[in-house]
Amino acid sequence: MTTDPHRYRAPAHLLAGRNVLVTGAGEGIGRAAALCFAAHGATVILLGRKQQNLDAVYDAIVASHAPEPIIQVLDLGSATEEHYSVLAGQIEDELGCLHGLLHNAALLGPRKPLDQYPLKDWRELMTVNVEAGFMLTKALLPALREAPAASVVFTSSGVGRRGKAFWGAYAVSKFATEGLCQVFADELGSTSQVRVNCINPGATNTAMRRAAYPAEVPTRNPDPEGIMAAYLYLMGDDSLGVNGRSLDAQGG
Ligand SMILES: NC(=O)c1ccc[n+]([C@@H]2O[C@H](COP(=O)([O-])OP(=O)(O)OC[C@H]3O[C@@H](n4cnc5c(N)ncnc54)[C@H](OP(=O)(O)O)[C@@H]3O)[C@@H](O)[C@H]2O)c1
Repeated sequence: MTTDPHRYRAPAHLLAGRNVLVTGAGEGIGRAAALCFAAHGATVILLGRKQQNLDAVYDAIVASHAPEPIIQVLDLGSATEEHYSVLAGQIEDELGCLHGLLHNAALLGPRKPLDQYPLKDWRELMTVNVEAGFMLTKALLPALREAPAASVVFTSSGVGRRGKAFWGAYAVSKFATEGLCQVFADELGSTSQVRVNCINPGATNTAMRRAAYPAEVPTRNPDPEGIMAAYLYLMGDDSLGVNGRSLDAQGG
């Protein structure tokens, strides 16, 4: 195992023959991860709520001659157990198994002190950032167990390790994400071939970062394409045996 996942250099065909689902694949870090996984040989299931964004990623992947991806439009804020079950059935029928699952989609929510934080926003954010990760992983476990080895990656944040003022439900949801990852990892890691880890992208130039820090010069942070090494590390076989960890995509 490498001690520096952010410096990992992936073999060109790291994910050849693998099926990987990415949530929030239409823009930002999820878009970059989907393109990157496809470029390394994966058939990527592009999950997001905006068809137009997913279509654009689909077109870019097809134009690059990577394996044809699959589009899955799903709003994680309103998805039901039935939606997750149907999705899992489709993946098992069409692909047989799932080798990778990147939980990337998230909402930022309002930047307000908790005593002014609206319950409606709190609930929506917890549904997308936490409940969807639980429900999707639960539904897809049979497909993940069908793979010879599978990797589930949850997306954390610096404020999911140390709470900070005005980060509200977002920070709490990322603590919950770390907890969800640890519980799944402990339950699955010793008894099955499914490993479960967290990744903290660190400050990255996306719409979410620009919304959280409107006064910041966006280019001071790397673009999503520049932080993919650790994502590839966790998704490919070089992280076999790594379980229950929370890694940083930008080191430190
Ligand atoms: N950027 C950073 O500096 C940073 C730092 C630490 C952690 N993170 C984490 O990294 C991940 C990616 O963030 P990002 O910066 O790339 O954010 P982003 O540019 O805002 O992208 C968020 C993605 O989540 C999707 N999404 C949001 N709500 C959804 C819903 N209800 N159903 C389905 N998809 C939904 C969006 O899909 P649509 O396009 O369809 O709306 C979008 O693709 C998040 O988990 C975030 O918390 C980011």
